[in-house]
Amino acid sequence: MRSRSRATRAVPPTDDGSWLIVGAGALGQLFAASLARRFPIVLLGRQAAESPIHLRRPDGETLRIAVPRQRPAAWAADRTSTAVPTLVVLATKSHDAMAALDALAPRLAPATPLLLVQNGFRTQPAISERWAGPVLCASTTEAAYRPPPGPQSPDVVHAATGTTWIGDLADHHFALATSVARRLDQAGIAATPCRDIRRHLWHKLAVNAVINPLTACHRVPNGALARPAFRPRVTALVAEIERIMHAEGVAPPPQGWQALIDGVIQATASNHSSMLQDVLANRPTEHDAILGPLVEASLRHRLDAPELQALWRAASA
Ligand SMILES: NC(=O)c1ccc[n+]([C@@H]2O[C@H](COP(=O)([O-])OP(=O)(O)OC[C@H]3O[C@@H](n4cnc5c(N)ncnc54)[C@H](OP(=O)(O)O)[C@@H]3O)[C@@H](O)[C@H]2O)c1
Repeated sequence: MRSRSRATRAVPPTDDGSWLIVGAGALGQLFAASLARRFPIVLLGRQAAESPIHLRRPDGETLRIAVPRQRPAAWAADRTSTAVPTLVVLATKSHDAMAALDALAPRLAPATPLLLVQNGFRTQPAISERWAGPVLCASTTEAAYRPPPGPQSPDVVHAATGTTWIGDLADHHFALATSVARRLDQAGIAATPCRDIRRHLWHKLAVNAVINPLTACHRVPNGALARPAFRPRVTALVAEIERIMHAEGVAPPPQGWQALIDGVIQATASNHSSMLQDVLANRPTEHDAILGPLVEASLRHRLDAPELQALWRAASA
């Protein structure tokens, strides 16, 4: 990947031009299907798949949406095309994001803006540090998943609508975040630009750090964490996270950390967390992106975090 110190070209506008969506998973397909109805996009997916995408909406209706799609290797190798994307949405899992970007970088203009959608806090600082162009981060509460294949199965289920916050870590690209949020909004993905994306990312990290590893480890839906058997562990984890957030200077949510996390447990009671889905499907989990930054912050600030450490060890085993 190019280093940040290299000279950069002017940032291409994002109000027109085509977006490249990298990763045809749950969120990549949701973004692609939503955007493709109004805007030019190309979806890069590694698996062979037919257009249209079958998208089941939260109201149960299934839409079939034509989406231009290519394999990443074919797109990267096509030196005849002069079409350059004005934004790249990196919609892979956290552990795949850097490699996916590296493979495409030779065909991208150096100042191409990126939009990272990963949970956790791994790709955001790493790619912001290394990429020469603007790096926007999204913190989204949209929920989508890929159901097991079957004759009646859609490609992607949009389980719940949410809010997508967009900004860059240094708050240097608010105008760009505004125009990207506007286009997502027009495509039906409610998005808001923000100047404090790090806070949004760390709030979601706190929620995910409690719900994901515990539900994955015990193979239970989110709502199980409200049962008395899990309460001491949930409360101890929240207390550790609260101390770490304070030391990191992350402002607490207005209702407090415990109420924030309990609220999500209640609101998503029947959901299987993404980490549980990954464990059940035998896929790598995002535990490093979700637990890693908290464990590292606890060490940096010399704070005891035995529950987080135990989850980290179990998830890394
Ligand atoms: N799903 C949600 O509701 C949701 C909500 C908020 C945030 N997020 C975040 O969004 C990110 C994506 O989540 P997801 O649920 O969409 O995951 P997912 O369903 O596992 O999709 C990830 C996709 O990335 C593809 N991929 C990996 N490396 C690639 C590469 N080098 N080039 C092109 N494609 C590549 C994978 O391809 P293969 O299929 O070939 O492996 C897979 O299709 C995660 O970081 C997650 O934390 C998701």
